[in-house]
Amino acid sequence: MPLTITFLGHSGLLLTDGSHTLAVDPFLTGNPVATHTPGDIRCDTIALTHGHADHLGDTIPIAQANSATVIAPFEVCEYLGEQGIDQTEPGNPGGRIDTDFGHVAFTPAFHSSSYEGRYMGPACGLVIEMGGHKVYHAGDTALFSDMRLIGQIAKPTVAFLPVGDRFTMGPELAALAAEYVAPKYAVPIHYKTWPLLTSDISAFKPKGVAVREMEPGQTWQVPD
Ligand code: NI
Ligand code: MN
Repeated sequence: MPLTITFLGHSGLLLTDGSHTLAVDPFLTGNPVATHTPGDIRCDTIALTHGHADHLGDTIPIAQANSATVIAPFEVCEYLGEQGIDQTEPGNPGGRIDTDFGHVAFTPAFHSSSYEGRYMGPACGLVIEMGGHKVYHAGDTALFSDMRLIGQIAKPTVAFLPVGDRFTMGPELAALAAEYVAPKYAVPIHYKTWPLLTSDISAFKPKGVAVREMEPGQTWQVPD
């Protein structure tokens, strides 16, 4: 089955192989660029990079409406459990969780993670295996040289990299990140959502990696 990815805006994705659908960081309510509402999302699994509100987003109503399993850092799962979400798969960087569609693995990310003042564990990136592809979603992070290792191990077809600066890498450092990870395609995320994040990503020009910009709501069938 081919892999199809819909960009939900900011850092949100919907990935499907035709039989399973995974939502990543589904932040829709309060997201000025979102084209979907929580009620539009049909998925069996949700994966979260960290606990910040612009990533945890609408996880609770979407999980409830779909009886979806939530894969997230341990402390995020503890919090979700207290909110009545008990179908969770907690993890931590270095760990991999096998799923019906493939797997979701947690990678390190250099970033904070909290929700309404509460510590939410480490911020993570995710490596997702689905539809015969690996997808690296870097979460929110600074540039770090071990992204090379993530690229070597995962050999991702696509990498979703934050480029918006201030809270994450900006476009120049994200270009270096794309060269370290060396996917076929790099998709810039986490930019121009608000004025605090840059909207000029003209410096995002990694060597040897195709840049594919996606507009919120846009769907892309990843070439095999
Ligand atoms: Ni964050
Ligand atoms: Mn963020």
